[in-house]
Amino acid sequence: MQANGLTIRRFAGPENAASALARDVARALAVKPHLVLGFPTGRTPVPLYTALVALFEKGRADFSRASTFNLDEFVGVLPGDPRSYRAFMDRQLFDVVNLRPSHIHFLNGAASDAVAECARYERAIARAGGIDLLVLGLGTNGHIGFNEPARELVAGTHRTRLTPATRRANASLFGRVADVPKEALSMGMSTILRARRIVLLATGSAKAKTIRQMVLGPITPRVPASFLQLHRRAEVWVDREAAGELSEDAR
Ligand code: GLP
Repeated sequence: MQANGLTIRRFAGPENAASALARDVARALAVKPHLVLGFPTGRTPVPLYTALVALFEKGRADFSRASTFNLDEFVGVLPGDPRSYRAFMDRQLFDVVNLRPSHIHFLNGAASDAVAECARYERAIARAGGIDLLVLGLGTNGHIGFNEPARELVAGTHRTRLTPATRRANASLFGRVADVPKEALSMGMSTILRARRIVLLATGSAKAKTIRQMVLGPITPRVPASFLQLHRRAEVWVDREAAGELSEDAR
């Protein structure tokens, strides 16, 4: 169904959404081997990465000419640090499929000059021809990437402060909340909206209220994901639980 310019696709459970999205990515790779993919971290995409690895192992997904750009990284965390988003992606996907290391793009949270690092990332995205398919997760507070709810949003890739809620949500990577970095580098809202196609994946009842706000509510920087309503090809893939607060026909 459609709501506020968004295409909503509803699935029985997280595994169904993940395997459908993995097949969609594999098809897109078959049509355009040089596909430029954007990826999120978090718990939500884990079944997607598992499904992509399974398709790769069956010879049904070929990443040999594809490129990837991840959304965000913690400030001060080295790429080789097991708590980094980069290490998470290495474990979940990059080390297991046939992506060329030089085609994997990541923000370096340990860069000494964050401004230069963010500018480098924007240039790399532009040089790759822009992102064809950007997969997004959803923070329970409405963030996408690390674009946190605020009075105003930043357009380009930037350094940002994390909210206490987001630091709590990321505590499992660091062992305890106090150890979660206070800042991160993230693609900006304009970087995200320039992707040619966007699929936001959200599963579980904890995301239901935020899904309602982003799909049916106003476009507001208080719910950064609501800006996806402005995109021509943005899809929201939800399981039954995450769709729980959408109206009858939206469900
Ligand atoms: C993190 C990431 C986001 C991610 C979100 C949701 O903070 N920066 O890109 O989408 O949290 O995480 P989860 O899927 O674990 O709920």
